[in-house]
Amino acid sequence: MIVQSDLLLTNIGELVTMAGSPGLRRGEAAGELSIIRKAALASFSGKIVWTGQTRDAHDNVELVDNSLEINAAGRVITPGFVDSHTHPLYAGTRQVEFAMRAMGSDYEEIAAAGGGILNSVTRTRQASSDDLEDNLLKHLTTMLLYGTTTVEVKSGYGLDLETEIRCLETASKLSEYWPGTITRTFLGAHEIPPEYRNRPDEYIRYLIDQVLPEIKTRELADSVDIFCEKGVFTAEQSRYYLQAAKTMGFGIKMHADEFHDTDGASVAVDLGAMSADHLLSISDRNIEKIAKSDTVATLLPGTALFLGKPFPPGRKLLDAGAAVAIATDFNPGSCFCESMPMMINLAVCQCGFTIEEAVTAATVNGAAALGMGDYKGALAPGMDADMILWDLDDYRGIAYHMAIPDIEDLIVAGQLVSSIFE
Ligand code: NIG
Ligand code: FE
Repeated sequence: MIVQSDLLLTNIGELVTMAGSPGLRRGEAAGELSIIRKAALASFSGKIVWTGQTRDAHDNVELVDNSLEINAAGRVITPGFVDSHTHPLYAGTRQVEFAMRAMGSDYEEIAAAGGGILNSVTRTRQASSDDLEDNLLKHLTTMLLYGTTTVEVKSGYGLDLETEIRCLETASKLSEYWPGTITRTFLGAHEIPPEYRNRPDEYIRYLIDQVLPEIKTRELADSVDIFCEKGVFTAEQSRYYLQAAKTMGFGIKMHADEFHDTDGASVAVDLGAMSADHLLSISDRNIEKIAKSDTVATLLPGTALFLGKPFPPGRKLLDAGAAVAIATDFNPGSCFCESMPMMINLAVCQCGFTIEEAVTAATVNGAAALGMGDYKGALAPGMDADMILWDLDDYRGIAYHMAIPDIEDLIVAGQLVSSIFE
């Protein structure tokens, strides 16, 4: 059958398709990139319609009027990165705290003294919606330049109904004009706000009774997350809250076992969460538990690097058979970095991933962690035409070049994004 196309890429040196069984990749499947060499790819109206060998392209693809044909000249093409965990909805910076850490203060000590997340909350509550939008756009533009075409954006620096809604509305507004795809997560349970100091149960009640229903009615978020951590929310509070969110129809995610093992990953698995994220301190028992589940283990190696903490146990999770994703955790306090190529390099150099496992974690498994595994993260017929044209002839260069993306151009929803690189 001949398919119609409005975008045809030919002479692709390596087309990293990630095609294969839909959904989570674990075990040996996590190392399979399904590369087509001397490849071609056709898309139509933003969806991939055909992949194969360049020599077969014109027998299978009919170009419609005003279509674009690109000779990739032997270069590598991969799916665009899926950054499945970021916190870019905030105002102000935390450079002063960064300087304090450089002088020996600890991240958790700064937070316990009223800094940290609460510092950003004060600034975010005072910020105008225009300022929030400018900041979000700035960081999402950088993400795009570094190859991220799908991003999860969390709220969580408002911690009251008005500011949380304003932040999520800002994300919704950007999704209308930022070229990639944005998915929104409500993280009202990121910290206990000053008004509820020492009353976390009452804050959770407020979120469940007053905030979540409003977010749901206004369709402002796709999923709900909580920071389960010593000194923030306990595993039991997290279970109660996420169960309520799930009952309301939200997807659920969890910041789990970041600094201390609080059994968070276990709760995430019990509730069927889409992902349990961070896991620097996950117990061996919970590594086995998450490995047997469909909850994605999302690792954020940039945070460990930025905070000078031990890296997450990537190899152990992979060997146990967990479906593992990697993401930036971009945020003003614990990881001020938008670069997915940096996370890929850290996953390989510090967390025991092979290059192939790291690419899987940054594409298909990231998409699965966002419930987008059916249409993001792979380059096969039916999937969204979001891809990176690399200035590389060997995909291994993606991990090899630390932090810096050798990106020539991007295609998002079947459209070249070159204008932003000029
Ligand atoms: O994922 N762990 C909780 N939240 C963020 C940090 C946020 C901040 O410091 O502003 C994280 O690391
Ligand atoms: Fe985070």
